[in-house]
Amino acid sequence: MTDTQPSRHTPLPQPARLGVRIAGTGSCLPDGKLTNADLEKMMETTDEWIVQRTGIRERRRLNRDRGETLDDLCVESLRRALAAARMDPSELDLVIVATMTPEMPCPATACTVAHRVGAGTAGGFDLNAACSGFVFGLNTAHELIRGGGYRSIALVGADALSRHMDYSNAGRGTAIIFGDAAAAAILRATDDPSKGILAHAMHSNGAGWKDIYVPQQPFHFPEGIACDPQKYDKVQMNGAAVFKFAVGTFSDLIQQTLDKAGLAASEIDMFVCHQSNSRILTAARDRFGIPEDRLYVNIDRFGNTVGASVPLCLDELVRQGKVREGHRVMFVAFGGGLTWGSSLWQL
Ligand code: COA
Repeated sequence: MTDTQPSRHTPLPQPARLGVRIAGTGSCLPDGKLTNADLEKMMETTDEWIVQRTGIRERRRLNRDRGETLDDLCVESLRRALAAARMDPSELDLVIVATMTPEMPCPATACTVAHRVGAGTAGGFDLNAACSGFVFGLNTAHELIRGGGYRSIALVGADALSRHMDYSNAGRGTAIIFGDAAAAAILRATDDPSKGILAHAMHSNGAGWKDIYVPQQPFHFPEGIACDPQKYDKVQMNGAAVFKFAVGTFSDLIQQTLDKAGLAASEIDMFVCHQSNSRILTAARDRFGIPEDRLYVNIDRFGNTVGASVPLCLDELVRQGKVREGHRVMFVAFGGGLTWGSSLWQL
């Protein structure tokens, strides 16, 4: 070793700590509405039952007969986010799409979307953590930027569970819940190190897989549930088990994240939560004494849009001026896997 080479014990010069900001958001919904009255004509259910149990009044659905695809929603939501960020797509280093319903297993949705928006050869990959996907993506993209290797990352949360619904009586436990959507956020490096994630968490418990799954083979059915080919490719859900998991997990996750950041719920400007059931959201609000205007709810208009749920709320809040620079915002989600995660930001 020469004198000019650093020894193992000489600390390397540290790059200046970067901050991360959310530079723009966008969303895109299919035009096709599926109201509770529409569902009443398709299966034995009522508007009253659906509203009382879930808070949902309508959801959107891609029109496959007209050739509408999830990729179209992703591309349009990302274009809107880029416009909001006043950015050229060529400035993107990476595109991540959080989805459990890609059009095809290959290519990844992110590659098609990056190409269609004009992001050149920016990297692209999909991330599947079901309804927690966007929050897991936020944490991943944030760490990639803070690590110094990437400056601008597009994160899209998108799902079209209508492809995996059974709109007959047999599927009434799930068909009433899910809707299609895409929403995007652009994360960018900033020299202000105070901006970015204050605390985050990502968890899973594979033992709970059988509470939400999409079987495609006889051996995909859990023990005790008979194989039924009619159920192939359709979401199977144990609603009561998911409800119980969600109510407890949701509150524990909020508390865990607040503890990590050393903050109280009253110090958070907005809770942007996965929209799975209005009763689950109300339970969290009650436990922490969060005022109504600080825990956003749009499930009545869109249902549970899985990976798009959290960024769709974020985009609406940004456009309404209810989330802006300087705010502290907590993102919280849970879903199939089972998975659950949070991301607490100083914007
Ligand atoms: N319309 C009318 N009745 C329905 C129905 C519908 N769409 N779906 C189910 N039912 C019936 C059931 O058949 C059952 O009838 P039974 O008692 O005669 O057997 C009864 O309603 C109660 O069913 P149950 O599943 O226990 O209802 P629930 O109160 O648990 O509500 C959900 C069902 C799905 C709304 C609720 O469990 C839920 O929201 N779970 C969480 C789901 C979720 O968040 N999933 C996404 C996770 S990211």
